Amino acid sequence: MSRLAAGVVLVTAHDADEGPRGEDVGMTATAFMSVSLDPPLVLVSLRNGSRMDDLLAEQPLWGVSILSDGQRQIAGRFAMKGRVSDRLLFADIPTTRGEASGALLVGGSLATLECRTEQRVVAGDHTLVIARVIAVAFPSTDGAPLTYFKGNYRHLS
Ligand SMILES: Cc1cc2nc3c(=O)[nH]c(=O)nc-3n(C[C@H](O)[C@H](O)[C@H](O)COP(=O)(O)O)c2cc1C
Repeated sequence: MSRLAAGVVLVTAHDADEGPRGEDVGMTATAFMSVSLDPPLVLVSLRNGSRMDDLLAEQPLWGVSILSDGQRQIAGRFAMKGRVSDRLLFADIPTTRGEASGALLVGGSLATLECRTEQRVVAGDHTLVIARVIAVAFPSTDGAPLTYFKGNYRHLS
């Protein structure tokens, strides 16, 4: 599957349980796809036991930022395993908070989606989270996508 070139997204959600103000959590993903146009449904596949999987089991609202070529540092940051807190990782990234989901959305990304989970399907060691798109925005009107192919981030040219 490393030979299937993929776009890269940052999945985000707000963990209200984490401290008095809650914590924003992010996870880099390539297993993200559109499922249905009417109604608008998308899917992300989350490794069972990952922090995002645990969080989305409790919290149906989440965000997706489709990353651009210039945002590979963000992708690298939110793919690290065993990190303690995401608060510092978001500190120097321009974000807005989605009104529909409360999730952080990354400025300068190609598109942002806000989603509400409709269905969860456990499939092997991952869970497919199928969600309705409840809001869309296009922070950056142009720019190339960040892509991932054969274990490396790539430029599309
Ligand atoms: C390019 C790339 C794509 C990834 N895609 C996914 C994905 O689609 N689903 C997933 O569960 N993890 C994916 N990961 C791994 C997660 O980003 C990583 O496991 C997570 O951020 C670490 O948090 P955890 O310790 O809670 O697992 C990907 C990692 C990279 C580098």
